[in-house]
Amino acid sequence: MGTIHAPDQAAKLAARFRATRAFTEKLCEPLETEDYVVQSMPDVSPTRWHLAHMTWFFETFVLRPFAANYKPEHDEFEFLFNSYYNAVGKPFPRTKRGFLTRPTVRQVYAYRKAVDAGIAALLESDQATPEVFERVELGIHHEQQHQELVLMDLKHVLSENPLNPAYRAGAARAEATPAAATRAAAQKSPAPQGAPRFVPFDADTYEIGHEGDAFSYDNESPRHKTYLRAYALAHRLVTNGDYLAFLNDGGYENAVHWLSEGWATVEEHAWRAPLYWRLVDGAWHEYTLAGLVPLDLARPVCHVSYFEADAFARWSGRRLPTEAEWEVASRGVAIDGNFVEDEELQPRALPAGSAGTGSGLQQMFGDVWEWTQSSYAAYPGYKPAPGAIGEYNGKFMCNQYVLRGGSFGTSRTHIRSTYRNFFPAHSRWMFGGIRLADDA
Ligand SMILES: [Fe+2]
Repeated sequence: MGTIHAPDQAAKLAARFRATRAFTEKLCEPLETEDYVVQSMPDVSPTRWHLAHMTWFFETFVLRPFAANYKPEHDEFEFLFNSYYNAVGKPFPRTKRGFLTRPTVRQVYAYRKAVDAGIAALLESDQATPEVFERVELGIHHEQQHQELVLMDLKHVLSENPLNPAYRAGAARAEATPAAATRAAAQKSPAPQGAPRFVPFDADTYEIGHEGDAFSYDNESPRHKTYLRAYALAHRLVTNGDYLAFLNDGGYENAVHWLSEGWATVEEHAWRAPLYWRLVDGAWHEYTLAGLVPLDLARPVCHVSYFEADAFARWSGRRLPTEAEWEVASRGVAIDGNFVEDEELQPRALPAGSAGTGSGLQQMFGDVWEWTQSSYAAYPGYKPAPGAIGEYNGKFMCNQYVLRGGSFGTSRTHIRSTYRNFFPAHSRWMFGGIRLADDA
């Protein structure tokens, strides 16, 4: 992880801390109290739990060890809002987070306020050592990760309601106006983007992984050499229109496209489409954070599992990229795109016929996390940090796949070309999509 040494960085760090904490609460502005407490499946945590846990992180890893006179108001929160850090004690079971009605939402907001004041005082004090800066920096990035989790989890909670409530009305209402309806209809033409262009990369030995002083997670290091055969990457993401063609070609009914475990999952859960697609009166719709809307064929497909991404790639006669291929290709691509700060809250369509210029890779950052075919594993020479912080990433390096590039739910200041997200192959509730690759 990067370090911040200069004491004059304290004010800047304090400002970023405040802004990050405020943005979390801004994301909660559309919520009613009832929205904060539901856990709709084991992977989902109630928003109230996230709000407390982000705060717990600062209390446990910054205030308790480093603030000399810090007295926790609620000692029991250490157990209640610990996610998975065994070195801190036995965490409260993840699957039961939705069973709790206390502390109340109001009490959790008060807990946030108290810890915010503690962090602000610590950063202004002479106890603000480089290690404190590092921990606060880590806590900021941790909070940004949970901001995306809040949106993912809220979307799942709200999607379980047959009334299809919107997290925040916007696109759904806009679609109801005649002008917007015309615009939407114009986007319903098949394959609005045309076929993707494949951008070639030479065979070579490349270096991947984090370097430099800027912040990164430990799983992005060490930087190391890796050999890549010549390959090509699609210039754009797979769209709903592309994916609908797979579906209409019997994609979900033909085992030939699927990994064995993927096919078993399709059969077990009767998957027939991406997670939030709904057939209404014979027309495909999609549940979004703005409510249920007609499926927009030009937008990137979202909420597909690794199994579906892989099956789509096989059906297309292509494959998924490796994480090294993705990272090498992303170098020199500006970190620009559709992020949570844009508040679009769904992946954005490219303008029709947009083939790009130069390397021409589009939508590399933002919109949707891109599944890679790489198992989430340690880089050669990787060592987790000592102590509880070492549990942040390293212990999850088993039975998960890497996703790259960030999504419409990710902060612009949170993503990097070396950033490694990871989920099990069957997971669909995160904002995951597809970019095709091929051998050159
Ligand atoms: Fe966490």
